[in-house]
Amino acid sequence: MSATEQKEKTWEVTFELHGEETTVLMRPDDTILQAAELAGLRAPYDCRRGNCLTCAGRFKAASSYNLVTTLRQEAGGAVTLDSDTFLCDEAKDEGFFLSCCSYPVGPGLRVELGVQKEAWQIQYCDRLRDEATRAAALEAVAQVQRGYSERNPDKFVADLERQFEGEGGVDGAA
Ligand code: FES
Repeated sequence: MSATEQKEKTWEVTFELHGEETTVLMRPDDTILQAAELAGLRAPYDCRRGNCLTCAGRFKAASSYNLVTTLRQEAGGAVTLDSDTFLCDEAKDEGFFLSCCSYPVGPGLRVELGVQKEAWQIQYCDRLRDEATRAAALEAVAQVQRGYSERNPDKFVADLERQFEGEGGVDGAA
């Protein structure tokens, strides 16, 4: 690949981390997280496969949206591409993305890293506040508990008895 072709395949990206801005040229094969690390930034991460939200980033107001999210999984020589990550649509709508599996596809990206708390707030708190969602979450928990008790009836009874004993017996729990 010629130097010109190579240049056409790099994008200038500006990162903000802990209030400091850094601008780098990044290759389309690197994730935002990898590019930040190559630039010497200590951006937070954990799973590096779209599950934990630790690497969450957010588009800044002046940013383009030239970013594509793709999980590349290699197994037995085959590469699978999957755009489904754990990040909820509500967080995406607020401009969040997962930097461990997001690649630049054009110029003008300006992104903030280290915003996992804000992404968590949306994903695990804000969107579960309305009545219908809470009811659905409780029903899901009840189904899991029901399934567990059906598969492990002896343990379920033993756990229940232990709970009652801890609360002063059946009469005390009523
Ligand atoms: S590091 Fe876990 S989702 Fe990116």
